[in-house]
Amino acid sequence: MDTLEELKIKGFIEEEVDPTLDLFSEINRLKKEKNAVILAHYYQEPDIQDIADYIGDSLGLSQQAAKTNAAIIVFAGVHFMAETAKILSPEKKVLLPDLKAGCSLSDSCPPHLFAKFKEQYPDHMVITYVNCTAELKAMSDIVCTSSNAVQIVNSLPKDQPIIFGPDRNLGRYVAQKTGRDLVLWNGACMVHEIFSQQRIFKLKNQHPEAKFIAHPECEESVLTMADYIGSTTGLLKYTIENPAQEFIVATESGIIHQMEKANPKKVFIPAPPNNQCACNECPHMKRNTLEKLYLCLKNEIPEIILPDVVIKKAQKPIERMLEISAQLGL
Ligand code: 13P
Ligand code: SF4
Repeated sequence: MDTLEELKIKGFIEEEVDPTLDLFSEINRLKKEKNAVILAHYYQEPDIQDIADYIGDSLGLSQQAAKTNAAIIVFAGVHFMAETAKILSPEKKVLLPDLKAGCSLSDSCPPHLFAKFKEQYPDHMVITYVNCTAELKAMSDIVCTSSNAVQIVNSLPKDQPIIFGPDRNLGRYVAQKTGRDLVLWNGACMVHEIFSQQRIFKLKNQHPEAKFIAHPECEESVLTMADYIGSTTGLLKYTIENPAQEFIVATESGIIHQMEKANPKKVFIPAPPNNQCACNECPHMKRNTLEKLYLCLKNEIPEIILPDVVIKKAQKPIERMLEISAQLGL
């Protein structure tokens, strides 16, 4: 039978948080006391973004995880992101506020099936999108993110055959951008495939001056309507640099917090989903709360633990991505 501690780690028992606590000052106190850093993805709830030491997209977060001097990394994001931080800084304690914060895209590519898929293409190099398990990264030649996928593919010789996984939408977008014939794994993200082309079309008609911006994890039918396609950081930059006053945003709606902060006078409209009960919030990202962030800093659990052999094998393809990105100034 599991001990109380084990049940807590698994998330079966949630410790209660005193509702009168000022969580912002408690988290800041614990952070200093324990020499911890909080890294948060743009899809986290606004309070978590506001208390983080660094907010960014997957590439920025990996770069931060590789260079931090902190003893503890609290990763306010999903499991594969915290794993990436652990792989890059194995000597550090990496905490994830909710261990069940997974990813539908990562789940769509089970490592044992990918290993069989890969066997069919012995001459191919494997590029994997960072949204996958550590085990999958360990089977890859280079990792990429949505910020650098096109450049990473272009960094390989033109005649080099490539398998790209796990996201079929990003893969198809990269294939079009690079003119390469990539072998794609058939995976996708539940959040980025929820947008309705018809409802976006209607919204664009209602807001003719609005720019429609989309993440490359969206389906092709949505991307064809976009004025700009980019990673979360790319989308944010576009809203700052483009003079338009209205933007329809097709990605997880957490990014709108930073867009509004950077552009207080501009209007941001989340792209509509294809049914009435779904929304474009990632249920995995949103498992993290300020209370769980506080508890994980206080108790130093749940911790990301990975086998050494996986860490060693997965390090190379991630470091290769970071090297190429640094060379290209990304
Ligand atoms: P980026 O922030 O790297 O664009 O990734 C989006 C995403 O889906 C993360 O889960
Ligand atoms: Fe995974 Fe999609 Fe959520 Fe990103 S938004 S963590 S890809 S399920």
